[in-house]
Parts: sequence; C-alpha cells; structure tokens
Amino acid sequence: MQYTWTEIEQHIEACTRCPLGQTRKRPVMGRGNHQAQIMLIAEAPGGQEDQQGIPFVGSSGEILDRLLHDCGLTREEIYITNILKCHPPGNRDPKEEEKEACIPYLKCETLLLKPKIIVCLGRVAAQRIILPDFKITRQHGTWIYRKNCALTATYHPSAILRDPSKYEVVKRDFCEIAQKQAGL
Ligand code: URA
Repeated sequence: MQYTWTEIEQHIEACTRCPLGQTRKRPVMGRGNHQAQIMLIAEAPGGQEDQQGIPFVGSSGEILDRLLHDCGLTREEIYITNILKCHPPGNRDPKEEEKEACIPYLKCETLLLKPKIIVCLGRVAAQRIILPDFKITRQHGTWIYRKNCALTATYHPSAILRDPSKYEVVKRDFCEIAQKQAGL
C-alpha cells in the first residue's frame, strides 16, 4: 500500500509514535519538488523549523541555499527532508527509538519520490541511511549505489556554521552532486 503525499502529511500531523509528538510545536514534513531527482536527508528539525513547520528555514537553511546556488541548483528542483519529523528539545541527537519510530515516514517519502540521488547531510543521517559506522570526515563525497539510486553524504550545514573553513569542502561535494544529476 502506497500513501499519497497528503496522506503522509496527515499521518505526521497526528503522529504519537514517540514522545516528541508531545513536545514539538509543529511537525516538519519534507518539502520540495515531488518530481525531484535529488533527495536531501538531514537529521531533525531545529528550533526555527519547529516554529514554522518547514525544513531548513533557520541559519542552516541559509547556508544550504548558498551551497545550492554556488553549484547551480535551487531548492525548487530538490526535495529535502529529515529522519525525524519532530524537533528534539535542545537540538540533542535523535534517540534510537525516535529514529525507528519515524523512519516509516521517510520510507513512504522515498517510495513516492523515487529519487535517483540521495544526499545525507551529516553523520546522523549518513549512519542511518548509508552505513552504521559511516565516518563523515573520511567518507563524505564518496558514492554507493543501491537499486537505481546513487547515495552520498556530506557535512551538515550546521558544521559550516561551527567551522566556516568547511564551506569549500562541502561546496565541492555539492558540485559533484550537481554534476551527477547533469549526467543522469
Ligand atoms: N537541521 C536539520 O537537520 N534539519 C532541518 O530541517 C533544519 C536544521
């Protein structure tokens, strides 16, 4: 059984599968182009996203938009989502049971979108989606292939906020992603 985008959103709105449903202000469903070839997956909504119910609207979102722009991509042509749809208080790492409770929503989004390229933003997403012991420092920018999809990971934009010298490294990864899409 495959849910529609609207049905997935309705399930997320009403979700009580983990305690974050009680503490979040607004759930944050993925957003973007439903025909996109590129799906970005980050870890969990931050404080601003919790207020607005939209992924990457805070300071990480500004960096993300700059990265996309510098590599000739726009938000309108990608789909962006998170492993968790609800904000973990204090921006702590998602707990194992929260990730497991929420992952069916990501599976539904992926089944509907059928992306050709999946990009994990940061360690938490890379370890859940690509490999449990994925090392973002050593393995960012590498590719694996599953079914009809190429998967890669790079640093989360918030890592650039903490260390601006990472911008160029992440930009290189993003530009490779853009090239990969151009060659599809
Ligand atoms: N950080 C994330 O991981 N996801 C968002 O949606 C915003 C910030």
